Amino acid sequence: MKKTVSFRLPYLLETLLVSLLCSFASAQQASPILVNDAAMSNESNGENWLAFGRTYSEQRFSPLTQINQSNVSALRLDWYIDLPNNRSLVSTPLVVDGVMYFVSSMNIVRAVDATSGEEKWNYDPQVAQHAARRMRAGWDNSRGIGIWEDKVFVATWDGRLIGIDRNDGSELWSVQTIDPELAMYITGAPKVFKGKVLIGNGGTENGPNRGYVTAYEADTGEQAWRFYIVPGNPADGFEDEAMEMAAETWTGEWWRHGGGGNAWHGFTYDVELDQLYIGTGNGSPWNHKIRSPGGGDNLFLCSVVALDPDTGEYLWHYQTTPGESWDYNSNMDIVLADLNIEGRQVKALMHAPKNGFFYIIDRENGELISAEKYTEVSWASHIDMTTSKPVEIAGQRYENGTAIVYPTPVGGHSWHAMSYNPNNGLVYIPTIHWAATWNDEGYDFSGFQAEQWKIHFGVDFALTGNSTRPDGVEGSLQAWDPIRQQQVWEVPADGVWNAGTLATASNLLFQGRADGHLIAYNGDSGEQLWDENLGLGISAPPITYSVNGRQYIAILVGWGGSLAALGGQVMADYGWAYGDHTRRLYTFSLDGAASMPASAPQRIPTPLASSDFIVNTDLATQGATVFAESCVFCHGFEAVSSGMAPDLRASSVILSATAFEQVVRGGALAPNGMPPFTDFSDAQFDSIRHYIRQQAEAGLAAAR
Ligand code: HEC
Repeated sequence: MKKTVSFRLPYLLETLLVSLLCSFASAQQASPILVNDAAMSNESNGENWLAFGRTYSEQRFSPLTQINQSNVSALRLDWYIDLPNNRSLVSTPLVVDGVMYFVSSMNIVRAVDATSGEEKWNYDPQVAQHAARRMRAGWDNSRGIGIWEDKVFVATWDGRLIGIDRNDGSELWSVQTIDPELAMYITGAPKVFKGKVLIGNGGTENGPNRGYVTAYEADTGEQAWRFYIVPGNPADGFEDEAMEMAAETWTGEWWRHGGGGNAWHGFTYDVELDQLYIGTGNGSPWNHKIRSPGGGDNLFLCSVVALDPDTGEYLWHYQTTPGESWDYNSNMDIVLADLNIEGRQVKALMHAPKNGFFYIIDRENGELISAEKYTEVSWASHIDMTTSKPVEIAGQRYENGTAIVYPTPVGGHSWHAMSYNPNNGLVYIPTIHWAATWNDEGYDFSGFQAEQWKIHFGVDFALTGNSTRPDGVEGSLQAWDPIRQQQVWEVPADGVWNAGTLATASNLLFQGRADGHLIAYNGDSGEQLWDENLGLGISAPPITYSVNGRQYIAILVGWGGSLAALGGQVMADYGWAYGDHTRRLYTFSLDGAASMPASAPQRIPTPLASSDFIVNTDLATQGATVFAESCVFCHGFEAVSSGMAPDLRASSVILSATAFEQVVRGGALAPNGMPPFTDFSDAQFDSIRHYIRQQAEAGLAAAR
């Protein structure tokens, strides 16, 4: 029999202890957490969500267990808020001491009470005013913010990095990180570490641009260091030894094309090894034959590069796609974990870039440990473990004319967050199963020159949506065993553009989908346990946190990302027509008692009929080129909107030369994200209208 020993402390001592404990507990609650390296690497604090991937490991794994497999079906709406603007919400909110901070459309940062949604402050960086022409490059898609101590950091579409006071939302400092003449932009979340804040940029496809990342002092915004990703013109001298080394892997006059490599996502700080990992972008232009005509791996494109966090000095790299020619950037998440591989504890990093291979890399030295295909891959048969390089398949570099290649430029996996559950050892990957056709016949390689502010690939390609798997699955959510390098389970999804994942210690897995559903799964088996329709395509990853003992699941809902902007008909079919659906932040809990708000029905815009506008086919052909260079990024392939901008085939503005002039040249809708095009000739403007009307008539004819 178990014996219980009870004894009584002398009364005085007891009361003293109790009051001490109480004051400690209340002090614990009242004293704010210091958001620094120690806090952001503390995996066990589930109340807060302090960094982009929750902690420095970027695992997006929460230790909270109040919501578990047996009660998740009772998850209810706790509170929600409507958010203004009609465009994307793709970001990860952060939670500190019961306050939620997040970036919304037009890079507006908001702080709200994490138990009610009540706004504490908002900070509007006036993006449209600052960006003007720059809005032509990239999108209003900010994936997140950073926090260090009492400051919040946001990076804007137009290239500014801004430090904000976390208590009242006032601006403390602002720096421009991009040359105003270059067509670059920011969609990434600033990465905070060791009192510094780092940001990269996008723009590889928008001009002859050269990628880099810059670190600034969190307190002042003063530049600490900059690391270029690809070498510049050797005649100008190299910035560092790493660039000199990288230049050996390029041929021709690559600097004329910028080289690319822009780091728009995928920054991880490793507090244990004191290293910073940068996922780097694809080449500018995509076509290797143009970019580096004599061949070469083209460092540091499509790589994971380790840098010294204090100086930005190069430490090591691993290149996933040498000499890339398919937009296979490595900008995807870099997730840290200690893995037991064949009896050895490895400080590993896990990475599932666009090229379709899942990589385990030893982060102490950058050595490849294993790599296997996590989706259909046709460009390479496997990764040779003696050279650590892919073994390519002949013809896939479209050297013999048209080639069908898996994956597409959208990737086997894009920036939609993957998560890792260290308890069951599974990685959860939003996966894409698409192929693309490629052809560069007719390109004048010698004469090719990209221009700033115009989209250029140096090759023709098309996404061949349906020629994917024999079972017709285009997108899926899969659980991947990183040690065995194999799939454990897979749930097929309706379509490809599904959002990021969240794993919890109850072995739950949450994911929002393109069809508007937020779903909870049994993370071990993939069995669906809960499903809520949020009324609009979801592109942001969910987070979880806890305040006063209540665990919450929160998610921003606002269709966004590159495919939601340019995807054309396949994305339009979801019915998230521009302007119809309210953008929201939803928060769920087991005690939630709010009613789900109404959402507008799905709608696919129909082109406008007009007998007055007579299409001139020659002008329409010219207009197709102008549209593809300048409008397709937001208004969609073949002028079919995917939902992030109006469907121009349905717009009456096209019918009136004056209205068109006011919107497109005059910048009448610039505050809403429509860039002004002041430098176009009248002939160019006219040709775009003819092209759009041609597409409208084609759409109407197809519907008949
Ligand atoms: C960066 C994204 C982006 C690019 C690039 C872009 N647009 Fe837009 N456009 C928008 C958005 C967003 C709106 C809706 C603004 C609003 O809500 O008022 C819009 C609205 C319009 C409208 C008004 C439609 C209506 O019925 O109200 C026209 C016309 C238009 N764009 C034409 C163009 C043309 C032509 C180009 C290329 C030369 C172009 N846009 C490039 C984002 C873009």
